[in-house]
Amino acid sequence: MIEQLLAAEVASHEVFTDPPGVTLLPEEEALVRDSVESRRREFTTGRHCAHMALARLGFPRDRPILSGKRGEPLWPGQVRGSITHCRGYRAAVVARSAEIASVGIDAEPDQPLPEGVLEAVALPQEEARTKELLVRFPGVCWDRMLFSAKESVYKTWFPITRRPLEFEDAVIEIDPVDGTFSARILPQGVRGIHNAPRGFTGRWIAGNGLVVTAIAVPAVGGSPDENPDRNHDSSRGVHTA
Ligand SMILES: CC(C)(COP(=O)(O)OP(=O)(O)OC[C@H]1O[C@@H](n2cnc3c(N)ncnc32)[C@H](O)[C@@H]1OP(=O)(O)O)[C@@H](O)C(=O)NCCC(=O)NCCS
Repeated sequence: MIEQLLAAEVASHEVFTDPPGVTLLPEEEALVRDSVESRRREFTTGRHCAHMALARLGFPRDRPILSGKRGEPLWPGQVRGSITHCRGYRAAVVARSAEIASVGIDAEPDQPLPEGVLEAVALPQEEARTKELLVRFPGVCWDRMLFSAKESVYKTWFPITRRPLEFEDAVIEIDPVDGTFSARILPQGVRGIHNAPRGFTGRWIAGNGLVVTAIAVPAVGGSPDENPDRNHDSSRGVHTA
């Protein structure tokens, strides 16, 4: 699913079950040694996906992918990437920083958010629009899609800015027909951050009982996508002031 959302220069690997026999490198193992089994499983398969994606870019699989202080995966120099895992799905994507400045992906079960969560994560206009989408475009849990888009925004935002971003700091607008969404970062989110992105555009997909969202920000001066159709795809990228 994930490769449908991203440009050709982004390498990806996804799985729908935890493959047997997959192991962590010793330095990675140390990060989850005391974790519960479910966390160990998602972390292990997430790292497996990351190593598989990195191998597609030509990187060796024997270098550990550790985690930063805020939980972000620490990629090899000159690599940007993102990892997601939820029940029934794990995925990782990577790209060369010369081509992609930042990338964020998120997968969620295509199920309604628990009671009260939409109100907690959505701005009033997002909540109203989500309720409208649920009526007008049934068959997809648009509340969960909104949540996923916000998580993808954060995973894209953090490696660029190294700063937190609250749920109320970004307004998401989902296009239910063309598979895209936009995110506008509100003034309080960018305050005091030099060259902070003012927004992103991303893509979404629903299927296999999942909603998946992704954002890839092309590097300034990066080489254009080889697929000419995608070069005209307004869903890619970042908005600056
Ligand atoms: C960090 C967070 C985005 C993870 O999303 P999630 O839906 O809970 O979980 P996922 O399985 O999809 O993603 C987990 C992966 O995200 C990655 N991640 C964690 N922190 C990250 C960060 N600061 N920056 C980038 N990626 C991060 C990690 O790779 C992690 O997997 P790992 O620990 O196995 O390496 C989420 O828990 C969170 O803290 N959200 C609050 C911030 C936010 O979303 N703001 C909204 C802005 S509009």
